[in-house]
Amino acid sequence: MKPKVKAFFDDQTFTVSYVVHEDSSRACAIVDSVLDFDHASGQTGTSSADQIIAYVHAKDLKTEWILESHVHADHLSAAPYLQQELGGKIGIGHHIVEVQETFGKIFNEGTEFQRDGSQFDALFREGDSFHIGQMRGDVLHTPGHTPACLTYVIGDAAFVGDTLFMPDFGTARCDFPGGSSETLFASIQKILSLPDETRIFVGHDYKAPGRDEYAWETTVGEQKALNIHIGQGRSIEEFVEMRDARDATLSKPRLILPSLQVNMRAGQMPPADEQGDVFLKLPINKL
Ligand SMILES: [Fe+2]
Repeated sequence: MKPKVKAFFDDQTFTVSYVVHEDSSRACAIVDSVLDFDHASGQTGTSSADQIIAYVHAKDLKTEWILESHVHADHLSAAPYLQQELGGKIGIGHHIVEVQETFGKIFNEGTEFQRDGSQFDALFREGDSFHIGQMRGDVLHTPGHTPACLTYVIGDAAFVGDTLFMPDFGTARCDFPGGSSETLFASIQKILSLPDETRIFVGHDYKAPGRDEYAWETTVGEQKALNIHIGQGRSIEEFVEMRDARDATLSKPRLILPSLQVNMRAGQMPPADEQGDVFLKLPINKL
């Protein structure tokens, strides 16, 4: 089955969100949405999410799933806003509980912050499947960038989140808490064992040396042949050495602190105070 895939690129965070649907049923899933956030002012906005809503309405689609590939560290999720406007269930990987444990400590969250994934409607495990209308989606657990990363395989389309990027850009960083380059290597092999013609939709694009346009769609066959970090049968030793050396040079994403606090709550803000005001924390020397 070849579902229709519409991409939405957010040039503030270099994130690609997707709407995937199958024509006969009109049912759709939304993958990795973005809530706009201005770090300097603390202002949120919905212009990115509103583009998705407009598309869903224009195509007369019924939203059944709002899927997260993982707890993003570089943008806030718009999942609750989309759910309020469009319906659908919010899903993420079952290993979210590990991420909640880690960041619950870092942000010194009280006992009211549940670390059991209960903020989400569905927690997927390796091998689980789900349906978007008549169309089946399969879940691969693909950790390494984070412990909870999933790849959603829907028909011939694989939504790989932050595991593989475009072949000329390579792979995702593995230096966040719970990340591991050895683990990412194994996860990528799992993705590359899908049929060569499988379409791969990546979670971010940053262009690449010699490329002036953003891009987000490739195939398993192209990744195997051309990926600069992992293509042509690169060994795990070579990959781990390259990945760890490169990660040591990277600074933290601009929105990591707000993103984690919100995304570990399925995109909800922390509880408001008695006045109804909402605050995010800025832990010092903790990351
Ligand atoms: Fe990520």
